[in-house]
Amino acid sequence: MCNTAITMPQTASSETGFDEWFVTSLNNGALMMMLSIGHRTGLFDTLSEMDWTDSAGLAKRADLNERYVREWLGAMATGEVVEVDENGRYRLPGDHAQFLTRDTDLDNLAVMAQYISVLGSVEDDIVECFRNGGGVPYEKYTRFHEVMAEDSGMTVVDALEDHILPLIPGLTEKLQHGISVLDVGCGRGRAMLKLAGLFPKSTFKGLDLSEEAISWARAEAKKQGLGNVEFEIRDASDFDQTGEPEAHDFVTTFDAVHD
Ligand SMILES: C[S@@+](CC[C@H](N)C(=O)[O-])C[C@H]1O[C@@H](n2cnc3c(N)ncnc32)[C@H](O)[C@@H]1O
Repeated sequence: MCNTAITMPQTASSETGFDEWFVTSLNNGALMMMLSIGHRTGLFDTLSEMDWTDSAGLAKRADLNERYVREWLGAMATGEVVEVDENGRYRLPGDHAQFLTRDTDLDNLAVMAQYISVLGSVEDDIVECFRNGGGVPYEKYTRFHEVMAEDSGMTVVDALEDHILPLIPGLTEKLQHGISVLDVGCGRGRAMLKLAGLFPKSTFKGLDLSEEAISWARAEAKKQGLGNVEFEIRDASDFDQTGEPEAHDFVTTFDAVHD
């Protein structure tokens, strides 16, 4: 196993402990990328189903390359995410598994670890903006819409039925009888897809700038056989001029107004 933790330089010393804080932050940043890999490969899910195991056992069960799984376990042990016993076997403690697996009643925090790599994918573009101004469009961010949909699946979609809709008295009943709903900046459209399934008498529309996100949403609507939801690629920045007044009974926007 290689030493995946970066150690303090010999010359470093700080009365306030800043150098130690810096190295710890550096290691934690790298650890987040390994947590992201653990989520994407399903290693946390597989590990949570197993008792003490070695890299060969985990790699076999997860159907992954043993050499890489061994390095990943080393990083997880160094980062104190997994436990190691005296025989060099690994285990994911239950109180860590509940924050790192898909099959959890709590939020899967490993989803959020993916943002570190997503942000890293545009560092060159951001440096360019510091020099020349401008902005970085969403399509430059590798996997942005995929990760965003996973994130809002936990924060928005999961809360829709029991927490968000009841904020407006009578809304659930109106949705049951049939109304027209628009979601602006819908991303991959998971909120509209969920509501379309729950309320078949209502019609739903999601619009977003992103061609990639809308293509995914359309394909998912087809896969789920939903005939009461549609998606449109559209820039809503001039919506105050171009939007049809009173075309919809209920308009939502989740995590998009700041854009
Ligand atoms: C942070 S994401 C949230 C996505 C989605 N609402 C969710 O919760 O998963 C913001 C979304 O707004 C979209 N967006 C930003 N500016 C927009 C505009 N002018 N017109 C339409 N969509 C826009 C982006 O493409 C992106 O999908």
